[in-house]
Amino acid sequence: MSVEVGGIVVHQEHLDASDQAELVEQVRRVVRAAPLYRPETRTGRKLSVRMTSAGTFGWISDRSGYRYDREHPDGMAWPPMPPLALDVWRSVANVPRDPQSCLINFYDANAKMGMHQDRDEADFEMPVVSISLGDDARFRVGGPERGGKTESLWLKSGDVAVMGGAARMNFHGIDKIRAGSSSLLPNGGRINLTLRVVD
Ligand code: SIN
Ligand code: FE2
Repeated sequence: MSVEVGGIVVHQEHLDASDQAELVEQVRRVVRAAPLYRPETRTGRKLSVRMTSAGTFGWISDRSGYRYDREHPDGMAWPPMPPLALDVWRSVANVPRDPQSCLINFYDANAKMGMHQDRDEADFEMPVVSISLGDDARFRVGGPERGGKTESLWLKSGDVAVMGGAARMNFHGIDKIRAGSSSLLPNGGRINLTLRVVD
């Protein structure tokens, strides 16, 4: 079933339990080759989420700001994109291009993501596709200006959000994680995969 939050379409339970488990395995493969790390912001604050990436480009934040890079901060190329994530993109993105980047965010029980726009990509006609695995997360969505009215929706494991069209530049963030709401990850927490065309 699809619902909408602030213009963003959420395909609820797009992935069934066995696909979710398989995608977690594919994510583990990425993390073994390109370990999760806690990025810093330009001002030296650590993000509460841990990150890595797969695909041609990874999204990086450090003392010089935000950007896409072909290498992990430790110097290796990013591992290949998880095949099931690519399948998800092809089934919902509705554009002729494949994604070049799969950002992997890991949220523990206390992690959150402040309100932001995704604007480091060259072509805003290309959507952003985001896959949720593990614990529920309250997703908050505003409009294209910071500080406007917002709406929220709890994202659950297997849900796929598509930020496209007029909602592509809407501010969004994760308020909080509902610890223990899913048994997909043995040690709890949430994984978010964000797929994007970069250049
Ligand atoms: C993000 O927009 O950066 C992450 C969204 C999510 O974790 O669902
Ligand atoms: Fe985002």
